[in-house]
Amino acid sequence: MTLITSIGVVGSGQMGSGIAQVSAMSGFDCYLWDNNAAALNRAFESIKAQLQRLVEKEKITSKQAQEASAKLRKASSVQDFKNCQMVVEAIVENVEVKTRLFRELEPVVAPTTILASNTSSISITRLAAGVTRPDKVVGVHFMNPVPVMKLVEMIRGLQTSDETYNQSKAAVERMGKTTVLALDSAGFIVNRILCPMINEAIFLLQEGVKAEDIDAAMKLGTNQPMGPLTLADFVGLDTLLYILRILHAELGEDKYRPCPLLIKYVEAGWYGKKSGRGFYSYNS
Ligand SMILES: NC(=O)c1ccc[n+]([C@@H]2O[C@H](COP(=O)([O-])OP(=O)(O)OC[C@H]3O[C@@H](n4cnc5c(N)ncnc54)[C@H](O)[C@@H]3O)[C@@H](O)[C@H]2O)c1
Repeated sequence: MTLITSIGVVGSGQMGSGIAQVSAMSGFDCYLWDNNAAALNRAFESIKAQLQRLVEKEKITSKQAQEASAKLRKASSVQDFKNCQMVVEAIVENVEVKTRLFRELEPVVAPTTILASNTSSISITRLAAGVTRPDKVVGVHFMNPVPVMKLVEMIRGLQTSDETYNQSKAAVERMGKTTVLALDSAGFIVNRILCPMINEAIFLLQEGVKAEDIDAAMKLGTNQPMGPLTLADFVGLDTLLYILRILHAELGEDKYRPCPLLIKYVEAGWYGKKSGRGFYSYNS
């Protein structure tokens, strides 16, 4: 099996910048690109600051930080991915846009290059059907924040080859992650279980239970590090609603029906921590 040593990451938002940081810190040659130049610059600033913080906390040495920085390069277009053995996309969660990107990449990269998606909800089989090398398409679902969270869900599409799966799994494990194999169905494993739990917490809030009591109950009663409503604010209520709607539509069961209170909050622009208000306020 050929070992992957060079990775391209497309999309330099929350997830893409984390994947690029972890790749570079794990010794992969990494190109990061975003079609928004400001977002790409922000990601490089943020990665630099994160590495600096890790040095200050004595989690890595300054030599390791320098080595990681040297491994990470800014791509100026998809053409820069021509020598990458694996390209991970972490762009907007839209099937047409992701398919278009894979189609743009196909003629640029080698026929052996793996096209990996960090999608939270889109079928890998469907993404693969849009390209001429469906055996090279695989799902690698990192968790947020990528440098901290240990898990990556691996997803095989109907046509993903054993080689593609094994090579991408080995690459992700070399980033220090633990992998699990999920089905290519909405929500994979984590969101399939987590989102209905958070949704149920929002139903309780709607019925009049206090947010603080719901969170304290789940923290102290089930040993979760943060309560479901706090977690929802961190994930983003818009993202949570999006995933619940996918689960509801694809799996067709009422248990995934988004709570009306969640819909109202999203309509109000209360997206959680990122907008300053969700189930809690973050104005300070
Ligand atoms: N946020 C999470 O908690 C989370 C967790 C796991 C997986 N994901 C998945 O990761 C992906 C990215 O999510 P995110 O939270 O990082 O989003 P984000 O909005 O923070 O970042 C997306 C980036 O992609 C860029 N982009 C959009 N279209 C592009 C294109 N055609 N070409 C190049 N760049 C493009 C945007 O400019 C933006 O910088 C999504 O598929 C999402 O479902 C998100």
